[in-house]
Amino acid sequence: MASPNVYVLQSNHQTKGLFTLIRDKDIKREDFIFYSDRLIRLLIEEGLNCLPFHETTVITPTGSEYKGVSFASKICGVSIVRAGESMEAGLRAVCKHIKIGKILIQRDEETALPKLLYAKLPTDIEKRYVLLLDPMLATGGTVTQAIEVLVEKGVKEENIVFINLIAAPEGIQFLHSKYPKVKIVTGEIDTNLNEKKYIIPGIGDFGDRYFGTE
Ligand code: PRP
Ligand code: URA
Ligand code: MG
Repeated sequence: MASPNVYVLQSNHQTKGLFTLIRDKDIKREDFIFYSDRLIRLLIEEGLNCLPFHETTVITPTGSEYKGVSFASKICGVSIVRAGESMEAGLRAVCKHIKIGKILIQRDEETALPKLLYAKLPTDIEKRYVLLLDPMLATGGTVTQAIEVLVEKGVKEENIVFINLIAAPEGIQFLHSKYPKVKIVTGEIDTNLNEKKYIIPGIGDFGDRYFGTE
């Protein structure tokens, strides 16, 4: 764990290899999608690991007791449109019938400031743990605005798990300066932002590469 409430995916040759593929500017788009999806799936599993559980015992087919655990709470997903939508399939693959809200926020291309355009969320969201999805954390402006929307709807800060592929240190710091109890699960923490507020070394514009709008 890098700092309180920041969980970085354990690095090994598998994960490093996947990051190497998707960070390469020359990768084919179909491969960019395929390998991003593999990493996203791992991150979602890691995010689920942040949720509370209680101890449960089951009886196995041999008639023996198995002391295990089960999840203790209701959850939902919320994707930050557009890039966050790339993470919805991975979430649905592991959480059957999960409700997924959407918050549309776009960064102004000149100023990099976020603009909130639309939100549609489960009506009982205040009773749920929220897995908030966006692959890129740069300045932190976008995710912080999304969390503001959730908190206004009654979601507890400590019940939000932000699942993210690549984070800049500036973004982590900004998010936690406003909402220190939000858990951040990220794949890798990069070095800095450039003058255009892109992550360095980064991946370029994730949404454009994933959805083919470069
Ligand atoms: C990107 C990305 C994040 C945001 C991160 O979205 O998906 O939402 O920028 O930057 P920040 O931390 O500085 O706010 P963008 O607005 O480019 O839209 P997109 O999802 O359509 O690519
Ligand atoms: N959004 C992206 O897609 N990439 C960045 O580096 C910053 C914001
Ligand atoms: Mg966005």
